[in-house]
Amino acid sequence: MNKALTGVRILDFTHVQSGPTCTQLLAWLGADVIKVERPGEGDATRGQLRDIPGVDSLYFTMLNHNKRSVTLNTKKPRGKQVLETLIKRCDVLVENFAPGAMERMGLSWEHIHALNPRMIVASVKGFGPGRYEDCKVYENVAQCAGGAASTTGFDDGPPVVTGAQIGDSGTGLHLALGIVAALYQRTHSGRGQKVLAPMQDAVLNLCRVKLRDQQRLERTGSLHEYPQYPDGKFGEAVPRAGNASGGGQPGWILRCKGYETDPNAYIYFITQAAVWPSVCKVIGEEGWITDEAYATPQARLLHLKPIFARIEQWTMTKTKFEAMEILNQYDIPCGPILSMKEIAQDPSLRESGTVVEVDHPTRGRHLTVGNPIKLSDSPTEVQRAPLLGEHTEEVLMELGYDAHDLEVLRADGAI
Ligand code: COA
Repeated sequence: MNKALTGVRILDFTHVQSGPTCTQLLAWLGADVIKVERPGEGDATRGQLRDIPGVDSLYFTMLNHNKRSVTLNTKKPRGKQVLETLIKRCDVLVENFAPGAMERMGLSWEHIHALNPRMIVASVKGFGPGRYEDCKVYENVAQCAGGAASTTGFDDGPPVVTGAQIGDSGTGLHLALGIVAALYQRTHSGRGQKVLAPMQDAVLNLCRVKLRDQQRLERTGSLHEYPQYPDGKFGEAVPRAGNASGGGQPGWILRCKGYETDPNAYIYFITQAAVWPSVCKVIGEEGWITDEAYATPQARLLHLKPIFARIEQWTMTKTKFEAMEILNQYDIPCGPILSMKEIAQDPSLRESGTVVEVDHPTRGRHLTVGNPIKLSDSPTEVQRAPLLGEHTEEVLMELGYDAHDLEVLRADGAI
């Protein structure tokens, strides 16, 4: 069956997490993704956080599904020639090297554009143009510079980074969308273009509700849905809001039965205005339905702490799953705090292909996260990540190199 991106060839010059997330998505959508790696070493993540000696790490295997791997030393003239042949044959080059690395390899936009005017050149960088444009950046730097860290955590503690890789994987997602848009524009213009997704900008995009709140704070001096209201003080910048909901429906994480021994026996509870009477009935506080101190969303903002404390008295009598079952009968929005162990075993996620088991020649069977985006006419089959250089011969043969050429390239250390 044809896939959404069948026929699109990607020269994947990415490494670590941000770029590989992007190209993995494109591969899942059907693109032919050719990952170019340095001979002998490959993507640094192959060897990072290894759990089995000598075997590609889960860090690598979980970010490089459905790709082909070619080894190429692009700093050798023969290696660079092969790369330029690939540039002429591919639709998109994706890279996330440190600023200036592509130029140092002799691969400026102008050069690539001259070789293949239809090629789209897509880059992740830590920062966009400006004072930090030359900086190398990893995940948590982006979380800090993009506004996530200053707004995550509790008011009485330091800034906190989140486990969700919004800097790396989040930017990779942004880049993938830019690439697909550029491919679409190319169907009209016939030309390639540069696509840039800076990590700081991508994190800020994901934190836009906090920039919303910054302006509300400057205008009104207070944020009524934040835990600092009504007793605490607000400063000049948006404070950390603990587990408060980012939207207009107050929410908080509450303890459930078993919390004393299970660090994930918690539930996220949202007091959506539409179901307030149901919330009151469930917790046995019917009087709050009409009591004017609680009857309207506005009035409740003054009492969120005691309200959640009272709801928690109820949730502590139930496991998170029992609470979910009861609350769902009343359409009360809530969510159990699921551990990674629970997620790995979740039958629905396995059924939908978002949690998948794959085989690997040296690692064996392992769990991975499949494509979270489901297209009805372009289903995803998750294939294992390639071994280093597994497809070098295959791809070079497709490019027209013969066995003798391969010998020469090998002897030169170019592949
Ligand atoms: N053949 C020959 N040389 C190669 C090569 C190949 N196939 N692939 C990479 N290289 C070279 C590069 O040309 C570069 O050489 P240079 O320093 O002489 O220019 C070198 O390898 C290292 O690349 P670099 O990107 O600087 O790697 P690093 O390990 O020092 O830095 C990052 C890693 C992630 C910090 C950096 O790449 C970066 O800031 N990237 C942009 C932001 C980003 O994506 N960050 C998130 C990563 S998840």
